[in-house]
This record gives sequence, structure tokens and C-alpha cells, in this order.
Amino acid sequence: LSVVQVDLEGVVPGSRITLKWKGKPVFIDHRTEARIAQARADDAETLIDPELDAERVQKPEWLIVVGVCTHLGCIPLGQGGGDPTGGYGGWFCPCHGSHYDTSGRIRKGPAPRNLDVPTYEFVTDTLVKIG
Ligand code: FES
Repeated sequence: LSVVQVDLEGVVPGSRITLKWKGKPVFIDHRTEARIAQARADDAETLIDPELDAERVQKPEWLIVVGVCTHLGCIPLGQGGGDPTGGYGGWFCPCHGSHYDTSGRIRKGPAPRNLDVPTYEFVTDTLVKIG
């Protein structure tokens, strides 16, 4: 489907869900205050693909990204929680070792770009339309 709607009401802070959109996984992270703070603090780091966290989210508590590594297209790990990146707080692509942070930005490894942000809009406070 080119447009997918999902109600995020039951997605508690700290959890991540995966949707399918145009045949690709979309990662939705209900970010905790700590994750938001980390993403904003990391704005000041030297970034491979410089983007502010605020440019990547519409609402700070919801990070929505395409779950496809921008190197060669593997699906990064991290939806199950924990921190497979060893400190960056986001996702880790096991294919060739790309590390993404709490804003889905590439921080280490061969991926050239941050995880893509799909087109989306909040129809209500919790209902989001992707595509
Ligand atoms: Fe993800 Fe190569 S495909 S690091």
C-alpha cells in the first residue's frame, strides 16, 4: 500500500514498532525523554550526514524512519530494544557494521546517509498516516 495509517495510542514510551510500507519496514520509536535528550545532545557531534534531530521529527517523542540501511539495504537491528550499537542508542546494521543513533542518523560504519524519513502526517494526536 502506498498509504498506511496506524494508531500509536498503545505504543508505550521506550518501545518500537515496525510497519510495512511500500514493501519496506518503517520503524516507529516512541522515544523516551532520555532518547530525545541524547538525540539533541548528538546534534553537536561531528555527523557523517549532518541533520538536526528537530529536522527529522515532527513530534520529538515519535521518530519515524524507513528501516532500511542506506549502505546496501539490510534491515538494521534494534527494534527489540536494548542498544545494539554499543552507545549510539539506535540501530545497528549487522551486514557491514553501520551504527545509527537515537535520531536514526548514521554515526559509524559504511552507510553514507541517515535512515530516510518517510512522508507522514499526524491525523490526530496518535493516528499517523505514512505515505
Ligand atoms: Fe548495512 Fe552494509 S547494508 S552496513
